[in-house]
Amino acid sequence: MILRPLSERVDWLGGIDWEARLFDALVPLPDGTSYNAYVVRGSEKTVLIDSVDTHFESNLMAALDGVGRIDTVVSNHAEQDHSGAIPAVLARFPEAEVVCSIKAKRMLVDLLGIAPERIRTVKDGEEMSLGDRTLRFVYTPWVHWPETMSTLLVEERMLFSCDLFGSHLATSDLFARFDGPLMEAAKRYYAEIMMPFRSHVSDNIRKLAPLDIDVIAPSHGPVHDKPAVIVDAYRDWADAAPKNRVVVAYVSMHNSTRRMVDLLVDACIARGVGVDRFDLTATDSGKLAMSLVDSATLVLASPVVLEGPHPLAVGAAYLANVLKPKLRYLAALGSFSWSPKALNKLQGMLADLDAEWLPPVSGRGLPGAEVVKAIDGLAETIATRHRENGWT
Ligand code: FEO
Repeated sequence: MILRPLSERVDWLGGIDWEARLFDALVPLPDGTSYNAYVVRGSEKTVLIDSVDTHFESNLMAALDGVGRIDTVVSNHAEQDHSGAIPAVLARFPEAEVVCSIKAKRMLVDLLGIAPERIRTVKDGEEMSLGDRTLRFVYTPWVHWPETMSTLLVEERMLFSCDLFGSHLATSDLFARFDGPLMEAAKRYYAEIMMPFRSHVSDNIRKLAPLDIDVIAPSHGPVHDKPAVIVDAYRDWADAAPKNRVVVAYVSMHNSTRRMVDLLVDACIARGVGVDRFDLTATDSGKLAMSLVDSATLVLASPVVLEGPHPLAVGAAYLANVLKPKLRYLAALGSFSWSPKALNKLQGMLADLDAEWLPPVSGRGLPGAEVVKAIDGLAETIATRHRENGWT
């Protein structure tokens, strides 16, 4: 791990995880990730902003050899991918204290066993002098845990935002370049980590706006030296009206449900509705999550398996329910052989979404004339609803 200067007084010393393919044993990482920590050197104090996941701990400690002293560790977020190496840092620098939000203290004690007497909590807006530099602690709660805060290096208008504005992307670029895979990585990150807390994302962006920030240094992915790009993207993802798109996520056992999906997709396209179609036996759940960011309607399609929906459809329903996208309409369709009960169960699994259910379409085996007509009717309803709402 090497020190890479962001400015005369600030160094990046994160770890680039080129090989990671799954985060939290849950989130696909097609392009790896990084764990970013930063050192800020004032004339009187040197501060480490966050740390790294424990599997990069030895690298962090080696990098800190080149720093020489750490007086304070700021923990913006207690989750272990950023706090995991703090105990090792405290062992190396026995005079150092940890600074965190009030809610983070108990978490750091419980999750990592840090001695409470080494932790000092700060209030929202409190400042700490490093001599000729100043840190201001800005509470930015629920992005994506209750204790999250950001830290502003006042003189350089540089915001250390931890997870907020991050991206899972292993790259040699220290600063953000949006001519490659970064925007997709950032949107994937937003979809999987931040979307369930969209109202908090919006509130925090409004709270941060008056700070007139020049640089956003998150704890995953590259640093934003043109912060308007990522902030505007977040505003669009969190606040803008949904788009005239339908997500069709399906699984089929004997091609009957697939045939129904073919008909629905074609009927939606014919009416000018954009379609993101996912075969749940093969899809990357991150791509599905990204499509849910902007789409107005979700259609889940499943055959019946033992009087219920297929487990892959259950997983997709669970994902959509917990990610809480801005979907306004939901529908279910599918085929059955001897029990028609699956679709009702799917509806119950999306109960946390504030969306209207459109009439389900269900049929035995391959779609007959009645089912074909019902699918066409569903596409017409979707297109009409989108048009009436002015979504384009
Ligand atoms: Fe990157 Fe919530 O940890």
